[in-house]
Amino acid sequence: KNIVILISGRGSNMEAIVRAAESEDWAGRFGARVAAVMSNRPQAAGLGIAAAHGIATVGLDHRSFADRAAFDAELARQIDAHEPALVVLAGFMRVLTPEFVARYEGRMINIHPSLLPSFTGLHTHERAIEAGVKLHGATVHFVTAELDHGPIIAQAGIPVLPGDTPDDLADRVLVQEHRMYPAAVRRIVSGAVVLENGRVVARDGE
Ligand code: GRF
Repeated sequence: KNIVILISGRGSNMEAIVRAAESEDWAGRFGARVAAVMSNRPQAAGLGIAAAHGIATVGLDHRSFADRAAFDAELARQIDAHEPALVVLAGFMRVLTPEFVARYEGRMINIHPSLLPSFTGLHTHERAIEAGVKLHGATVHFVTAELDHGPIIAQAGIPVLPGDTPDDLADRVLVQEHRMYPAAVRRIVSGAVVLENGRVVARDGE
């Protein structure tokens, strides 16, 4: 079961997944491996991290394509070369075309830095502070056509404390992301969680 991870920058969630796959022996246990890491920004720091782990990398500059559809078509071609069981968006900052999303229906997931359905879109930590919520966090969900609206696989919460800045929240949410995302990927590649008729279904009593 090949996993392809898409990033745009730092790649710390990608690295957390790669490390989990190595240390928990996903290959031996589930026949799963991170086959490739791809970025729409060829300079993304995360590509170097992936390469250092011996993983194939692809940098595909979206600015060198005529339009979104052309970029997505080439990205899909690169992804499909690995015949992935799962496509993982980890800080991938590009809106995807409906065709691309449909192609990977039920086998593409994303992590979003808020407790969805609150705060879809950008600047989630600033907006959580502005709204005065006391609980904030991150969500792993299947990707559907509507941005940040897919069926929820996992969530992790953190308290919002008096005086917290957006950076404080981002730091504490990120710690949770690095725990939650590898665990969610593991549950999918192990078959413990599947998408059925648009709903997340847990198997094996999980
Ligand atoms: C994470 O906070 C993720 O939730 C958001 O972008 C950030 C990516 O960080 N979508 P990294 O590239 O994984 O370090």
